[in-house]
Order: sequence, then structure tokens, then C-alpha cells
Amino acid sequence: MFGISFLIALMIYGSDSNQLKKPHIVLLIADDLGWNDVGFHGSNEIPTPNIDALAYNGVILNRHYTQNFCTPSRAALLTGKYPIRMGMQGLPFGNGHPVCLPPNEILLPQFLKKLGYVTRLIGKWHLGFYKKECTPTERGFDSFFGFYGGWVRYNDSVSKMGFSSGIDARNNFEPAGERFRGKYNTDVFTEEAVQVIRDHDITKPLFLDLSYAAVHAIWKDRLQVKNFEENEKKFAYIKDPNRRLFAGVLTALDNSVGEVIRVLDEKRMLNESIILFISDNGGETESGFFQNHASNWPLRGLKGFIFEGAVRGVAALWSPFTLHGFVLTNLMHLTDWLPTLLAAAGLVTRLWCSLSRGESSSSKLQLLFRVLSFRPK
Ligand SMILES: *[C@@H]1O[C@H](CO)[C@@H](O)[C@H](O)[C@H]1NC(C)=O
Ligand SMILES: *[C@@H]1O[C@H](CO)[C@@H](O)[C@H](O)[C@H]1NC(C)=O
Repeated sequence: MFGISFLIALMIYGSDSNQLKKPHIVLLIADDLGWNDVGFHGSNEIPTPNIDALAYNGVILNRHYTQNFCTPSRAALLTGKYPIRMGMQGLPFGNGHPVCLPPNEILLPQFLKKLGYVTRLIGKWHLGFYKKECTPTERGFDSFFGFYGGWVRYNDSVSKMGFSSGIDARNNFEPAGERFRGKYNTDVFTEEAVQVIRDHDITKPLFLDLSYAAVHAIWKDRLQVKNFEENEKKFAYIKDPNRRLFAGVLTALDNSVGEVIRVLDEKRMLNESIILFISDNGGETESGFFQNHASNWPLRGLKGFIFEGAVRGVAALWSPFTLHGFVLTNLMHLTDWLPTLLAAAGLVTRLWCSLSRGESSSSKLQLLFRVLSFRPK
């Protein structure tokens, strides 16, 4: 899977590639969203009109596979490698664990920076932060506003995970807890994204990785829902009170997706954007590691397991440059995005030249490093 799109990417690379206009790339990542939580999979329980509009007007990725947990999924997405090749398989990192995505891995934003992109991460990182060189701004992101760990509370950005607890909120390296005070965290990330888009110099391509805390565990807690009373009325038809809370968390996420797209349009960037909406892994349901109230029906299993409910993720792509109203049934995996997005960003090479220069025996990534003249550490 990695191979095919990668070869396509390499095949069309030329020294003239810089003249091609590079699309803005916006990743919208939901945390633990279930297969059956979005309208475009047929669910009529919780409306997700903005996510659906993206999917129905774009390409629904019907067999998009992830890892079964967050840290491995995000490692796969940003490196284009299977997590087990980097020791990133298994359970997600706890806060305070002296582990991180190996610093010698070269990440998607690093590649994109080489291609002239401005790179921004807003929201969740969860690839380790025990030393500075592990953190997002040292790993290819020009800026970071969000949280380092696996989850934060929606109402105050507090996390209690692993060996530590406290406010997990950063603006680059500075503590940013006050930005979240009295605000709903999905909205704070959206506000930041709106600012980033409005301030963007449109002569440069933007890579915006907007990785929400939603719809991770809500602990059966009404404080985790925006406008609880209103939400109770709106979703009164949902019998399970915890699923009602979940509906509120998901609605805030869906509204945010709509807002980001509206502002991209307002800034006249939408017509040159690729927008990818994905969940990092399957939904967390009534049991499991962080009990929540997502639904993966009709898929079996949930986050952390090995059935499709854990690894067949919600995914859709919208761009003026791709098909519209199309359901892609090809098997895909998170590792496909690095080469695919780099191809979209104009990283294209004449494979034949590489082959004829005797580079066919190099690993595909080595070839890519050469093309972008990276020197692996
Ligand atoms: C956020 O919610 C938690 C859990 O319900 C609660 O203990 C905490 O006081 C709330 N924080 C704020 C700032 O309201
Ligand atoms: C997108 O819209 C802007 C402003 O309206 C325009 O200058 C630009 O050429 C458009 N891009 C494409 C690819 O159509």
C-alpha cells in the first residue's frame, strides 16, 4: 500500500515541480470516533452535517485502516511506517513515560517544510515529550498549540494519565492553560485554527494538522459537554444518558469542522485545499480502556482490540482536485498518507532516472530522503 502510492509519487517528480502550485493540506483528526457515529455511514442518531458534507461531496474512504490505539496510529500517520518498525506498537504513552517517537524518524511536516510549507499542529500530539527534541516544534512543526499527552478534559484541559496530572496545554513551549479557562476545549482549538488560517500568508502552502481531543472519554460527566442543559433537550430522543453526553461532544466537533471550512473559504484558500477527516482509531464503547459511548456498529470490537471496530476508521477526503461523490473501496492504511500527500504536494520524481542510477536497491524512504536531500542522523 505504501509502495504503490510512493512509487507514483516518485515517478512524476521533476526539477520543475516547484512551479506547480502546492495545495494547502488540512488534516482534521478526531480521537476515538466510532464507525457508526457519523451520518455518512448511515447513522441517523447524532447529526454530523458538516462532516457529512465533506464526505458526500468528496471521497468516502470506506476501507481506511488505522492502528488500534492512538500513539501507534499517529506514529504511522506522521512517518509512513508501520509502528512496529519503530518500537511504537502496543499501548499509548502515559504522561511522564520516558519514551517518544524516535527522534531520528523524519516526519510528514519535515518533508512538507522542505517543499515550502508552513506547518502547524493544533491539538493533540501524544508522541512523547520527555525531552525537548521529542516535541512537535522540534519535529517539523513551525508552531504547536495544544496538549502533549493522550487526552485532556474538555472543560479545563486537565489530564490525569500515567505518572502525572495537571493542566496539559502549550503554546509552543509556553504553558497555555489560561487560554482554556472557562472555555470548551474543542472551541479553543477551533479558534486557534481560525486565527492560523486568517493570518496565513497565502503565497505559501499551509499544512495544518488539527487534532481534536474530541470525542475521547467523557467520564459520564456533564461538565465535559458544551451547554449541557441545551444538549439534554436537543438529544432527548436518545435514551442512553451517556450517549446523549457523547452527542454533545460530537456536535461541538462537527460544528468546528464546519467553521474551519467556512474560514478556509472566507480566506479564499478552500479552492486550493486538500481536507482529510479521519479518526485515529475505532470508537471506545461501554467497556475498554477509557470507557466512552461511541458506536462502531456493525463492526465488531472497539479501540484497542484487533477487530474492525478498532482499526477500520472513519475517513473522508475533500478537495477540488479530487473526485466528488465517490466511495473508494480500496484498502488503505494510515501509512499511505505520507507518500500520498507528498505526491499531492508536488514531490514527484522520475523513477526511471532513479532506477537507472542504480538506486533501485535503496529503501523507498532512503530514496525520498535523497530527493529532498535529508541527511538521516
Ligand atoms: C472540570 O471537570 C472536572 C470533572 O468533572 C471537575 O472536577 C473540574 O472542577 C472542572 N473544572 C472546571 C474549571 O470547572
Ligand atoms: C482560488 O481562488 C483564488 C481567489 O479567488 C484565485 O486567485 C485562485 O486562482 C483560485 N485557485 C484555483 C486553483 O482555482
